Order: sequence, then structure tokens, then C-alpha cells
Amino acid sequence: MVTKDIRELREFLTANSWLEMDLTLSDESKNFPRPPVQKAPLPGQELIHLPEFNRDILQKEDIISLIQSRRSRRLYSSCALSLPELSFLLWATQGVRKITKNCTVRNVASAGNSHTFETYLAVFHVEELKEGIYRYLPLEHALIFEFSVPDLSEKMIEIGRNYHYVGQSAVTFIWTTIPYRMEWRYMESSARLIAIDAGHVCQNLYLACEAIGCGTCAIGAFIQTKADELLRLDGKEEFVFYMAPVGKQLEK
Ligand SMILES: Cc1cc2nc3c(=O)[nH]c(=O)nc-3n(C[C@H](O)[C@H](O)[C@H](O)COP(=O)(O)O)c2cc1C
Repeated sequence: MVTKDIRELREFLTANSWLEMDLTLSDESKNFPRPPVQKAPLPGQELIHLPEFNRDILQKEDIISLIQSRRSRRLYSSCALSLPELSFLLWATQGVRKITKNCTVRNVASAGNSHTFETYLAVFHVEELKEGIYRYLPLEHALIFEFSVPDLSEKMIEIGRNYHYVGQSAVTFIWTTIPYRMEWRYMESSARLIAIDAGHVCQNLYLACEAIGCGTCAIGAFIQTKADELLRLDGKEEFVFYMAPVGKQLEK
């Protein structure tokens, strides 16, 4: 049964906040600097530059077949992803095409070019990478190794509410959001826009996975506090928003 309280939450889905908002009060209008487009690596964190990929990695290129074959895949083979394949998936989901004044144009759309997401990876089976948590740097198209986590697979499964595929992938994408990147301009409308943005990112992952014989499954249900703890986030200025395990397809 849909209770009154649940109905009230629907307000979040509406565009009503645009009518109520006075954009002249935004931090952008007050000439506060635009927040950085990516979190800087910590001193001493080395960049792992991702290789160029070429069309050899593609098993399907036809957009109609890609859209038609897309589905949520929750079982993966034990084969590792190659680094060019991972490079392709990161490019498809957050890759930067152009850097303009303090902002980036990427392969996915984002309201006001705000791009509030950081992409963390729980890496299990990727050639040339040891197991652990990594973060993608879109500006450099590089990874940084964040840290190792004992029993990472079990921890990811627990975070994913015991859905085994969250921790039995080749790599699980973990998107965090830094909401201020959107709030700086869009204030009260930000939460809705961030949620819409996330769909664009994950849909590109679905299609890019299909193109290289991989599969993925969007994960909206997870244990927030445990996910934020795993990535050592404060859960307020930055928190986990969405996840997607990726692995080689078992069946077509
Ligand atoms: C926003 C969103 C959240 C989702 N969350 C989960 C999830 O937590 N666990 C899961 O197994 N599937 C999840 N899914 C996958 C859906 O169950 C799946 O898309 C749906 O059953 C339709 O199947 P299809 O993707 O194969 O067309 C999610 C999908 C979306 C778009």
C-alpha cells in the first residue's frame, strides 16, 4: 500500500523546485569558484595510465544489436578483463572529450556539465591489476590504486545485501556522488538531477559491456553505511550512489 508519506516523497521527482528556486542565490551567482571536476590524487599516489583501446576489442558495433541484446547480467565467467577493455568501459562511462573553463565535456550527458560522480572500482580479475580499490581519474584517463581490503569479495557481497554478483565480478564499478558539484548551480533541484545523471552513466556501461562480450547489472540496493565505510567516505559531502558489477558473459 502506498502511504501518504511515500506519496509526499514523489515531490522529489517533480520539476517544481525550478519554480521555487531563486538561482540568483546560488553559489555560482555569488561567484564562488566552481568545485573541482575530480578529486585530486593524494601525494604519493601514482597514476596508472590506461592504455588506448582499438576496435579489435569490439564483438558488436551495430547500435541496434547492442540495444537489443542489452539486459542485466548477473552471472559472469571467471575470465579476467584486459586493461584495454577496462579502459574502454571507463571511457564510455566518464571519459573526457574536452576540457573547457573549469569544466569537462564527457561521453555522458550531465545537467549543467556538473558531473558529480567519482568512479571507484573494486577490482577482482583485471589483467595487470592486483585486487583492491581503485579510482578513475577522467582528466588523465588513469587509475590510482586507493587501498587493499582484506576479504574484498565477501565485503562487497555484504554491501550488496548478499547478492553474490556484487562481489563475484571481474570488477565492480562503484559510483560516488559529490553533490556540491550540482548544488553550486542548481541548489534544491540537485538531488533529482544527480539521480537522472546516474542513469546516463550506467546505460553507457550496459551498452559498452554488450559491445565487448561483457555483462553488467545496475545495483541500486546496497547498504549505504557499509559502502561509504569501505571507501572511507564521510557519507555527506561524498557518498556511494550506484554500483554495477561487470564480468565476461557466460551466455549470449
Ligand atoms: C536504478 C536501478 C536499480 C537496480 N537495482 C538492482 C539491484 O539492486 N539488484 C539487482 O539485482 N538488479 C537491480 N537492477 C536491475 C533491474 O532489476 C533490471 O534492470 C530489471 O529487472 C529489468 O531487467 P533488464 O535490465 O534485463 O531489462 C536495477 C536497475 C536499475 C535501472
